Amino acid sequence: MNPDLRRLQPYPFERLAQLQHGVRPQESAITLAIGEPCHQPPDCVRAALVNDLDSLAKYPTTRGLLTLRETIANWLSRRYQLPDNALSPETQILPVTGTREALFAIAQCLIDKHQANPTVIMPNPFYQIYEGATLLAGASPWLLNTTAADGWLPDFDKVPDNVWDDCQLIYLCSPGNPSGEVIAQAHLQALIERAERHDFIIAADECYAEIYRQNGPAPIGLLQAAKAMGNSKFKRCLVFHSLSKRSNLPGLRSGFVAGDAGIIAQFLRYRTYHGCSMPLFHQQASIAAWNDEQHVISNRRAYDEKFTAVSQTLRSFGITVSIPPGGFYLWQRTPIDDVEFARCLFAEENVAVLPGSFLSRENDGVNPGCQQVRMALVQPLDICIEAAERIGRLSKRL
Ligand SMILES: Cc1ncc(COP(=O)(O)O)c(C=O)c1O
Repeated sequence: MNPDLRRLQPYPFERLAQLQHGVRPQESAITLAIGEPCHQPPDCVRAALVNDLDSLAKYPTTRGLLTLRETIANWLSRRYQLPDNALSPETQILPVTGTREALFAIAQCLIDKHQANPTVIMPNPFYQIYEGATLLAGASPWLLNTTAADGWLPDFDKVPDNVWDDCQLIYLCSPGNPSGEVIAQAHLQALIERAERHDFIIAADECYAEIYRQNGPAPIGLLQAAKAMGNSKFKRCLVFHSLSKRSNLPGLRSGFVAGDAGIIAQFLRYRTYHGCSMPLFHQQASIAAWNDEQHVISNRRAYDEKFTAVSQTLRSFGITVSIPPGGFYLWQRTPIDDVEFARCLFAEENVAVLPGSFLSRENDGVNPGCQQVRMALVQPLDICIEAAERIGRLSKRL
């Protein structure tokens, strides 16, 4: 057995199930724990999926259909104001079956465990796949705490030079899960310069890039930042995008990786053996989704309505709330220990939220997720408001 399997931590939802075990709440259940979008998938995607079912008889290639890669290249140019042809569909884009598998696989492909101290830097709290991918690739995670004092953003100046020297890969998440905060262009550019100096690769998880507040700017992306500083070939940069959150299609398992052609070529090689090509009817459905913006605009409007209503409700109970610029999570401070808060909220009000400390690790004497909970505003508006009222009621009693 691979001994590194023993280094994996229990997944946050396993820990939540343990926390809820044996508790029998009275109220009807509301879950804000998992970031699974509950809005309707777009009709054009359903139609494209069904229309192409005859392709069941064909093997898809790992590289995917050229039309899908062209559609993605055009979408990237529109979304990030890149010139037409900024990205080559032939060499700089690969479809992936969701960002989760791709974020995992990239570490297996890139890490050279024969070098001294192979290290992967990641924010803390973080999407748990970064850590598992690192451990199974034979490297060590180096956790960069993000805290309220830093606006929940990674401060790259806090990483010592010797760690940058050992670093082979860094994971970024912007807009962040759980905070929804967006890394600024200047910080992305400083990191790209560092990557050049210290020879590492940047994997930017941008799966929440399309969920942002309508009255704010669209979050900047790593490729956009690279291009603006003259790195037109996107050297050392990879972005990971998904239809799961953008288009309410977590069941489709569709996303892409784009950026540095040299890395993409090696990733394609790796993936050919890994065997994770996207079914052809999923590729047709994905083309329909990337070509349609209307459902994405409606989605943003629906999340904005929920953020406004939920924050008003929580404030009416005297709770301080700040609406994040991106994503669909409220990352809330708790009046008591986060695990205890989540347990009471479940037992007394039957609302499931994720304790912040399940998303982070103790590091440098602190666990930055402590006394925070993550609430995914994925349920319909009335249910989110009902959840906020129950949270308010509980907070009054504490
Ligand atoms: C930060 C982050 N990255 C990646 C993913 C994976 O998304 P998918 O595999 O559906 O694209 C998630 C899912 O919740 C996430 O929160």
